[in-house]
Amino acid sequence: MNAGDPPRILLVIGGGIAAYKSCELIRLIRKGGAQVTCIITRGGQQFVTPMTLAALSENPVYTALWDLKNEAEMGHIQLSREADLVVVCPATADLLAKMAVGIADDLATTVLLATDKPVMAVPAMNVRMWEHAATRRNVAALRQSGVHVVEPDAGPMACGEFGAGRLPEPEAVWAQISQRLSLPGAAVDALAGQPDFDRDPAHRALHGKHVLVTAGPTHEPIDPVRYIANRSSGKQGFAIAEAAAAAGARVSLIAGPVQLDTPHGVDRINVESAREMAEAVTAALPADVGIMVAAVADWRTKDIAREKMKKRDTGLPALELTENPDILADMAASSQRPGLVIGFAAETQDVIGNAIAKRARKNADWIVANDVSGPRGKSVMGGDMNHVHIVSDTGVDSLDAMPKDAVARALIARIGAALAQNNIDGGDTRNG
Ligand code: CTP
Repeated sequence: MNAGDPPRILLVIGGGIAAYKSCELIRLIRKGGAQVTCIITRGGQQFVTPMTLAALSENPVYTALWDLKNEAEMGHIQLSREADLVVVCPATADLLAKMAVGIADDLATTVLLATDKPVMAVPAMNVRMWEHAATRRNVAALRQSGVHVVEPDAGPMACGEFGAGRLPEPEAVWAQISQRLSLPGAAVDALAGQPDFDRDPAHRALHGKHVLVTAGPTHEPIDPVRYIANRSSGKQGFAIAEAAAAAGARVSLIAGPVQLDTPHGVDRINVESAREMAEAVTAALPADVGIMVAAVADWRTKDIAREKMKKRDTGLPALELTENPDILADMAASSQRPGLVIGFAAETQDVIGNAIAKRARKNADWIVANDVSGPRGKSVMGGDMNHVHIVSDTGVDSLDAMPKDAVARALIARIGAALAQNNIDGGDTRNG
């Protein structure tokens, strides 16, 4: 895109009930100052008509390869080359599968195979289809090949079932598009730290660095079937691990119990309890950067019942609790302290004040603080958006509210800059 030209989006609309949301997305894209051209599959046309799309986008709508046979029309290669970003929304299980293996049997899939532009896919499908091993494989393959696959929302579905697979609201999809295009109003550095496939990996910001990330909740067993847990989804920590790997780092991700795909290029160690997480962190040191994103349970039961506690036998059980190790504080106090130690602080009140106190108490270099107040910490815990403030010895750097993967890239960009400036090195030589 030339400076001053509006960015151009090629929107591929697949065949699912969520296709109706693409109408609102087109409106938001136009309102945000970008141009949009639509391709709609045969299935998509069962839900939305090309005429509606043409009226909203104020551009021709393409439905079939033969639309383009006239030489006066753009060829399918040209159609994709004219775009700055290709967005597939909704991306059905069928479209994802065809994209993953490179099937080109209609206009949409042919354009997707022909494009050399960044592609973002926004899946929407029934929860069983989303969780099917075939879809998991296809999504993993697409992510590996550089397609940005957005995580679907969870909740009640049009088919009457519940679970992950809902198309995120058009505002959230637009937020991700605008971040990717670096439009005004979007965080300027949201694209920093993204893999630059034109550039030698040796020149990426975190090349040669070992980054240690904890993510997700911990489960503290009470008996063989019960545990103490919290609402952490692990999404922010996984996004940070992904962004660090994309920036060239060797990444060790110590993950609590979450159902998330392992980001490409990340070394994942699964744990259940805080004590297992503490052990895995120690084993993974030394590192140049430690980023403790996990919502570690502060307490565990003093004793774990060997057999399932029976209501009849125990009556109302009195659970005696004991404190878990503080993984962040212990790492910061250890002889293997990484050059840059970063903690997170989920707070429901006095967010900055609590983060400043936490930074001093745990001897962290930075604390990334976020407000999780609201019903069930709903906006942040489990959601896709985050609004963070980075507290360091130089003050407080407040970022705009943005999707968690954009927060991750912004944080990694700052880490890259800090390492370059201070020549921070945790003494890890395993990268050679
Ligand atoms: N943390 C940790 N080990 C623990 C508790 C927390 O490593 N046992 C880390 C978290 O990963 C996070 C930071 O410490 O990076 C802050 O976590 P938080 O739960 O907000 O802090 P707490 O110490 O539990 O403080 P409080 O509950 O009083 O807010």
